[in-house]
Parts: sequence; C-alpha cells; structure tokens
Amino acid sequence: MVKNLREYIKEAEQNKTAIGHFNISNLEILWSVFNAARSLELPVIIGVSEGERDFIGLRQAVALVKSLREEYNYPIFINADHSYSFERVRAAIDAGCDMVIFDGAELPIDKNIEETKKCVEYARKTNPDILVEGELGFIGKSSKLIEELPKGVSLETQTNPTDAIRFVKETEIDLFAPSVGNVHGLIKSGNPNLNIERIKAIKDAVKIPLVLHGGSGISDKDFQEAIASGIEMVHISTELRLAYQNSLKLSLQENPDETTPYKIMKPVVLAVEKVVDHKLRVFNKI
Ligand code: G3H
Ligand code: ZN
Repeated sequence: MVKNLREYIKEAEQNKTAIGHFNISNLEILWSVFNAARSLELPVIIGVSEGERDFIGLRQAVALVKSLREEYNYPIFINADHSYSFERVRAAIDAGCDMVIFDGAELPIDKNIEETKKCVEYARKTNPDILVEGELGFIGKSSKLIEELPKGVSLETQTNPTDAIRFVKETEIDLFAPSVGNVHGLIKSGNPNLNIERIKAIKDAVKIPLVLHGGSGISDKDFQEAIASGIEMVHISTELRLAYQNSLKLSLQENPDETTPYKIMKPVVLAVEKVVDHKLRVFNKI
C-alpha cells in the first residue's frame, strides 16, 4: 500500500537519505523519472513549475502521476513547484496535487510570511495530507545553462537561521527551502559549493524537513554532506533538460528520416532516465 508523502519524508529523515524531486515538461520525462525510481524501488516526486503545468495541463499532470501511482501501486507524488501567487497554489490544491510550494523568496519577509500562511491555511482546510513548502532566500529562477551566478544571489543573501525560525514558526509550513549556496540552473564555469555549516545551523533551528533546490551542478560529495546535515528532498531540473536536449539532437541527427515520434524519443527517455538513476543513487547511498 502506498503511504502518504509525509511518511516517506519521515523515513528519509530517519535514514539520512533524500527523496528525489524531478521536474517534467511532458510524458516522456515522466516515464524517464518513473522508470528510474521504479527500478531502484524508491519513492519519487514529480515537480511541475507554473510554466510546466501550463504546458502539460494542471489536471492532466495530476491525472498522469496518479495513474502511475494507482496502476503500479507506487509511491510517486506530484508537487506544484514554485508557485508565485496564492491563486496558483489554490488551483494546484483544488486539482489534487500532493504538495505545493509558495515561492515568496523575492518578497520582503513579512509579505512572504503572510502569503505562505494563507497557502498553509487553505491546504489544511482542504486536505491535511497536502504538504506545503515555503522558501526564504533567493536562489535565482531559471532552470537552464547560465553564464554566471544570478543577480541577487550571494553569501549575504543566504538564509539566516534566525529568520528561518521566525518564518517556519509563523507560517507552520511542512517543508522549508533555504538558500545555502544552491542556485537554480547550471553555471557554465561551475556552481558554487554548498554551505554545509549553514544547512546544519538551519536544521538545528527549524527542526522540520529541508528541501534543497537548484540541484543541477552540485557535486555528489556536496549532496551527501548536505543530506547527512538535514536535507530530505532534492530538486533537479536543468540536468534533465540538458540530457533531453542533447539526446534529442543526436536522435534526429542519427536518424534524419525517422518520422515516428516514439522512435525518435526512445533514446531521449533513456538518456534522461540515466541522469535520474545517478541522482537517486547518490541521494540514497546506493
Ligand atoms: O525547482 C526546481 C529545482 O530547484 C531545479 O533546479 O534546475 O538547478 O536543477 P536546477
Ligand atoms: Zn527550485
């Protein structure tokens, strides 16, 4: 029997492992993620940002993930990733997402608290099983290859434990996403190292599950230290997008006369699956 997401997060916390959260834009990538997780028998979360859910269709994305959960009796969940307004959070909750993120990282802390709180209240009254994540500390916005550290991201803007305590206490969120050296996107010259001491200090302060965004470009060693220090969920998007783009180009180049979409896409599904497989092994010490 599939347990609820809260239980899998608790298990990750106890085992000092992390649940992989992977963003998808289409059915092919969903299969890549599902196949990789299933062959390792690990719970997994599918993330859909505002743009991704607009492209797939919010209710359609929920239906796809739930169809896998039901057909395979498998712990696969869907998260409405980076929602920038209460309205988008409400729509995701109403559509049946298992988890939502209100992303107020660019707002002043008071406004961020106020909006996040509204999302938590709506989730609780709709279905207490729905998890709400809040964010404090800006880490950039684009899951793509980037030239340099996004503007507004620096050591000074990393989340401080005192603000984190206030944020978590006042909002009553289930999961907390801090800025600890992580960045959305893959920086061409290399992503910064994670601030492991800051992760430990935040974990000690807030004592709730922590989520590491911006997983692309982070070294396996940093992941392992971060997970040992209190991270229970890791988000990956850009590296999947790059694997998708590169293998699609190759597939089209190698088979210029192929017109059958499922034949063109077969190596693409496998290439993305390989990336997911590697990340899941790192997050779970396999
Ligand atoms: O929410 C999405 C993730 O934080 C992805 O970050 O594109 O750097 O892997 P990434
Ligand atoms: Zn993110």
